[in-house]
Amino acid sequence: MDKIKIIGGNPLFGKVFISGAKNTALPIICASLLTDEPVTIKNIPFLSDIKSLNNLLLQLGTDISVNEELLNGHNTQTITYHTPQPTSLIAPYDFVRKMRASYYVLGPLLAKYRHVELSLPGGCAIGARPMDIHLTSLEQMGARIEIKNGYVVADTDDRLKGAHIAFHSASVGATCNILMAAALAEGTTVIENAAKEPEIADLIRMLNKMGAHIEGENTSTLTIYGVKKLHGVTHQIINDRIEAGSYAVAAAITKGRIELINANPEYLKTPLDILQKMGVKIELTPNSIIVDAQNAVLHGEDIYTDYYPGFPTDLQAQFMALMCVSEGASMITENIWENRFMHVPELMRMGANINVHGHASAIVRGVKKLSGAPVMSTDLRASFSLILAGLVAEGETIVNRVYHLDRGYESLEEKFKAVGADIERIKEAD
Ligand code: EPZ
Repeated sequence: MDKIKIIGGNPLFGKVFISGAKNTALPIICASLLTDEPVTIKNIPFLSDIKSLNNLLLQLGTDISVNEELLNGHNTQTITYHTPQPTSLIAPYDFVRKMRASYYVLGPLLAKYRHVELSLPGGCAIGARPMDIHLTSLEQMGARIEIKNGYVVADTDDRLKGAHIAFHSASVGATCNILMAAALAEGTTVIENAAKEPEIADLIRMLNKMGAHIEGENTSTLTIYGVKKLHGVTHQIINDRIEAGSYAVAAAITKGRIELINANPEYLKTPLDILQKMGVKIELTPNSIIVDAQNAVLHGEDIYTDYYPGFPTDLQAQFMALMCVSEGASMITENIWENRFMHVPELMRMGANINVHGHASAIVRGVKKLSGAPVMSTDLRASFSLILAGLVAEGETIVNRVYHLDRGYESLEEKFKAVGADIERIKEAD
């Protein structure tokens, strides 16, 4: 497995181009299954999660054609997905195990082809990750659902039926799956307590361009008037707010200045507000966010992860790295996932002072310096937090299990090198 080697101490200066959003691309690619016409998606990032999902769609019988394209100065992928008739309605264990967002085929295949078999993804490093909301909502829409041999087997004799559904948690995944299923259902579906993340609004925009009729974008009540057929579309996905937030922390932690090109500040209000409170200067230009921490005296702040527009759980680990080297104490409460402090013992091996209380809260007391160490991480965002710690630590840090980063951060070393980091990938064979 590849590793990343970092020599800490360089303040980072320059520009980072923000890529298309992974967590938008994944449901939007699956939405292409709702039509037998071609769907072209622009601004898809070069990531291993995208490759994994493409492999699943190939196995379902989708034709995929990939083109590279320069968009706003950044090299991206434009991919056309065309599924005239699937050759399989099964999402096998090996695909779902590698990439849990494979579960986004559930709603589209069931709504359009009335049958789907999806391996249950199981838990993962950040928590149990149940799917009860997805399944009970589809049952409310008339689906028969059975769990057999680790698979969800879902059927419906006719079109799914519109229903009034109230989610017990504002789940991003369930909101996407039920939106896609309801788009082709008979009658009207209302989702209460829907997720409001920008990724959902982008999916709604695309579905409406395909001929769906969905109202309530950016609110927690979505109304979907089902239609019989959806057609092909060309859609450009939004940029990745979590990638932008991650590099914002890189500027802050190294006391540098990074311009995040093509980042949308609207999607990052809460984390940018926290950075400002910690002593970082934020400037907005028409197409970028400038994060300036030169000469900043950083001090601790409290964060509480929550559904959008609250503080995103996917930036919690990165902010924790920053708090490790900020003056005073910071309290971090993780409110979304029950097991998302796996980076703590690794940060402590680098000299951080963190006390975890139960599963949900941690007190970070800032230290003067971190020192480099070999570290290991368990998920994508935790890996990035260890890179951040390595960037300010004295000496050498080796981050193991780089495949986590390749799932969600496009061209990571190139982007960091371009702003002056001493970072390199050590290939397994080296
Ligand atoms: C999405 O996961 C993201 N993944 C996650 O990002 C992100 O952390 C999460 O949303 C929260 O923002 C993708 O978009 C591919 P949820 P998802 O369903 O959809 C509970 C990353 O690093 N819940 O919104 O799986 C659940 O336990 C990843 O990019 C149920 O109880 O998350 C959690 O507490 C990691 N029953 C809460 O809802 C359900 O059926 C939110 O989960 C579904 C969820």
